[in-house]
Amino acid sequence: MAKGPVRVLVTGAAGQIGYALVPMIARGVMLGADQPVILHLLDIPPAAEALNGVKMELVDAAFPLLKGVVATTDVEGMERKDVMSKNVSIYKSQASALEKHAAANCKVLVVANPANTNALILKEFAPSIPEKNITCLTRLDHNRALGQVSERLNVQVSDVKNVIIWGNHSSSQYPDVNHATVKTPSGEKAVRELVADDAWLTGEFITTVQQRGAAIIKARKLSSALSAASSACDHIRDWVLGTPEGTWVSMGVYSDGSYNVPSGLIYSFPVTCQNGEWKIVQGLSIDEFSRKKLDATADELSEEKALAYSCLS
Ligand code: LMR
Repeated sequence: MAKGPVRVLVTGAAGQIGYALVPMIARGVMLGADQPVILHLLDIPPAAEALNGVKMELVDAAFPLLKGVVATTDVEGMERKDVMSKNVSIYKSQASALEKHAAANCKVLVVANPANTNALILKEFAPSIPEKNITCLTRLDHNRALGQVSERLNVQVSDVKNVIIWGNHSSSQYPDVNHATVKTPSGEKAVRELVADDAWLTGEFITTVQQRGAAIIKARKLSSALSAASSACDHIRDWVLGTPEGTWVSMGVYSDGSYNVPSGLIYSFPVTCQNGEWKIVQGLSIDEFSRKKLDATADELSEEKALAYSCLS
């Protein structure tokens, strides 16, 4: 029997990442080639005209799976504060709209920076959506780490797995290869074993991944959009359809205190997904070097949280 359509809401849909993302969703890249979708595109009022242009293009692309497009800048009852982070107030108002109109079991992926803290604000103002359903994007960093290892070892990126991004989607994140492996003709090998150069793994590799977003901005004069949209698709696809056996991915999720990360932060952990639910991978060994990095990015997130909440009061 043909599946009924699923509603997917993309906020900031007229922005660069939204523009790259919506055709992927409409083509079935995110939820499967047999899953019809109805796209809801939301953006802020100054973007109304551009948003309408995106809608026109979606219609013009005649995607067979696309069963409807709703484009709006109306979140109802918007309340804007002026200060520090525009995003904090945008997320507050969008959370209120979700709280009012979205299905209580909807899955939320926050992409806009500061992504972890925006997700926290969203959680705060959409209290009826379970906290396990509110996540932020660190799959972009995860994929960047896979890409760096694959380039260094000259292996297929699809043969590299189980890197981890810990913490914040910022330059304090910790890209960790201690448990990562590469598929080789003679079986799975540890990345640490294959990359003999320890200094690269604890130095340049980490800083390259941490600063990749800034490097792309410098090169393109615009922030990443193609890779951000593609990794957003990966995040939702694996969350909804499941991670492959023996593979984990990184997602920014509500901390339950695992790995002594303070609970109450949205923090990137290694997770596996099954039946639409993510689960933090437990029991990985954390050496002293890693411990410091896990704590440093947690400290930054605690500071961001305090700053964001001070803007809301
Ligand atoms: C990225 O990682 O590419 C972005 O978060 C960078 C940015 O600041 O837009």
